[in-house]
Amino acid sequence: MDTRKTVDLSWDEFDEVRDPRPATNDFDAVVERAISRRGFLGGALTFGSAAAVFGSGVLGSATSARAQAAGFGFTPIGIHTDFDIHVPEGYEWRPLVRWGDALFSDAEGTYSAETGVPLAASDRVFGENTDGMETFEHDGHVLLAINSEYVNPRINLPADSEGMPKNADEVTLLKNMQGVTVMEIANGANGWDVVIDSPYNRRITHETQMTMDGPAAGSALMQTNADPEGMSPKGTMNNCGSGKTLWGTYLTCEENFNGYFGATGAYEETDGLARYGIGGEGRYAYEKFDTRYDLSAEPNEPHRHGWITEIDPTDPESTPVKHTALGRFKHENAEMVQAADGRIVVYMGDDERGEFMYKYVSNGTWSEGQPTDGLLSDGTLYVAKFNDDQTGEWLALTPETTGMSAEDILVFSRMAGSAVGATTMDRPEWIAANPLRVEAYCALTNNSRRGNEGMPVNAANPRETNDYGQIVRWRPEGEDHGATGFSWDLYVMAGNPEVYDNAYGGSDNVTAGNMFNSPDGMAFSSDGLLWIQTDGDDSNEGDFAGMGNNQMLVGNPETGEIARFMTVPNGAEVTGLTWSPDRTVAFVGVQHPGGAWPDGEGKPRSSVVSVWRADGAAFG
Ligand code: FEO
Ligand code: CA
Ligand code: CA
Repeated sequence: MDTRKTVDLSWDEFDEVRDPRPATNDFDAVVERAISRRGFLGGALTFGSAAAVFGSGVLGSATSARAQAAGFGFTPIGIHTDFDIHVPEGYEWRPLVRWGDALFSDAEGTYSAETGVPLAASDRVFGENTDGMETFEHDGHVLLAINSEYVNPRINLPADSEGMPKNADEVTLLKNMQGVTVMEIANGANGWDVVIDSPYNRRITHETQMTMDGPAAGSALMQTNADPEGMSPKGTMNNCGSGKTLWGTYLTCEENFNGYFGATGAYEETDGLARYGIGGEGRYAYEKFDTRYDLSAEPNEPHRHGWITEIDPTDPESTPVKHTALGRFKHENAEMVQAADGRIVVYMGDDERGEFMYKYVSNGTWSEGQPTDGLLSDGTLYVAKFNDDQTGEWLALTPETTGMSAEDILVFSRMAGSAVGATTMDRPEWIAANPLRVEAYCALTNNSRRGNEGMPVNAANPRETNDYGQIVRWRPEGEDHGATGFSWDLYVMAGNPEVYDNAYGGSDNVTAGNMFNSPDGMAFSSDGLLWIQTDGDDSNEGDFAGMGNNQMLVGNPETGEIARFMTVPNGAEVTGLTWSPDRTVAFVGVQHPGGAWPDGEGKPRSSVVSVWRADGAAFG
C-alpha cells in the first residue's frame, strides 16, 4: 500500500490504489484457456516466441525496420537526462505559451515566479499541465484549442498547504487551472505567439455551463439538485487527449474524473462507482468545500463526467455539448474518421489497467457542408475484442448483447464491455488513424498488473508486468472503418535491448539508439508518419537505463523504423501535438516538467513549445 498522500500520487498510482477492475471476467478465462492450449506465450515469454507470433506479418513489413532507411529528414538525437529540450540539428524551438501566461491584458503580469497564479486571474490565463490540442483556421484567424489536464496543488497553492486546498477559494483556483483554453495565435517576427485579448480567447473550466445530448441525457442517473432535468451539467475536468471533428469543432476528453469526488458523509457504494474507482476519499478534498463533488450530497454528479465534450472554438459564446452516445470512461482521445458509406467513426481508449478500446459509429452519414445534427448523439458504441490469431471484432454494446438498458450501457460502458467479453488492454492511450491508409494505431502505455489474477496475458497484451508498453494497429475489413471485423499486429513492442534479450528487449524495430518506454500521445503528420510521445519512467536506471528523459519519436508505418526527434526536461511527459496551418511549425506539449523549466528560476511551468526547421521547410 502506498502511504503517500493521494495528492502526490500520479494518476496511474492513484488507479493502483483504487483498482476498480473486477477480479475476473469470463473472457479473460477463455483467453487463458486458449493460450494454455496453444502453448504460446506460456511461462516466460521469449523474444523468439514473440517474433513467431508477431513477425508473421499479416499486415506486411512492419518489423523489417533496421534494414531500411526511412528518410525522416533529420538526424535522430541521443538521449538526454537534463532539464532542457533537445531537437535535431537544423531545428529550433521556443515556448509558445506557459502555465500562467495571460490570455487577456487584464491578467498580464499577474503570474509570479514565487507564488504562481492569483485567484483573480486564474480563468484569464493559460492553465496548467497542457495536454491534447488541435489547430483551427477560421476567417483568416488561427486558433488553438488546448487541454489543461490536471493541477499540481503543491505548485499552485501556498507552501503551507501541503498540497491540499484549505478553503473554497483554493479549490476554485485549482479548478480554474484545468479545463480547456481556446486562444488565437499569430506568426510574428519572433514566431508564433498568443494574440492577447483576441475575441476568440476563452477559458472553459469546471464551472462552464454545458448541455448534454444522446440517449443518457436527462436520465435519472444524470439528475442532481442543481439540475433536476439532468440536461445541463457544469464543466469539464481532467481534459486529457483531444480530437477534431471533420466539421471543425474540438473534442476534449475527460479522463481521470474519478479522483475529484469524495464524501463528507454516508453515501451508497454502488457497483457503478466502484467500477470507475470513485470512493469516499477524493484526491484534492474538493468535496469538503463544494457539495457538487460530495457523493453524500450529489451521488449522480460523477455520472456527468467522463464524457467526450464538443466545443466550437470559433464561437466564444457557444455552449459545449457532452455527447453521451460516445460512452463514459476515462477517455484518452477521440480519433474521428469516416466509414466508406459516410458514417462517422470515433475511436477511443479507456486509460486504465485492463480496460477497453471502443469505437462509436453514427447512424447518419455526413459529407462536407451537410448538417451535423445527430452525428454524435445517434449511433452505436462498440468495444474491441482482439483474438489471438490476429483477427478481431468490434462488439456492439446494445441492450440485447449486454442485458443493460441503453442509458446504463453509456453511463457504465466499462460494465457493458465486460458483459460482452471485450479484451482487457494495457492502458489504451491515444489512437491515431493513418491518413494514407485505412488503419489505426493505439498506444498501450504499460500495465504493471498484466499477468495478475483477472488480467492474464493475451496476444495483443503479451507481456506480464508490462513496464514498457506497445503500439497495436488494426486494419478494418474491406478497408472500411465502419466494418466490425479487423486484422491486427503490434507495430512496436517497446523494451530495453540493452537489459533484456527476451520480449522485454522489445520488437526488432527497437534498438539501443531509439529505445523508449510508455508510448502515450500519438498523431500522424500529413505525410503519413506516426509521431509517438512518451509518458514513462525517466529515471534512466535499471530497466529504464539508456532511455533518458521522455521523448517524441517518429515512426514509419511502412518500414517500422522509429527515430528519436525530441527530448523534454526531466520530470516532464510529452503530450499533445498539432501543427501550424502551413505545417512548418509543430506545437508540442510539455507537461509537468521538473527543475525550473523553462524560465530557469522559480516554479516549473508546463508549456506548449513551437518547433520548426531553421530553413523554414514544412515537416509535418
Ligand atoms: Fe491523460 Fe492517459 O493520459
Ligand atoms: Ca496521456
Ligand atoms: Ca500516460
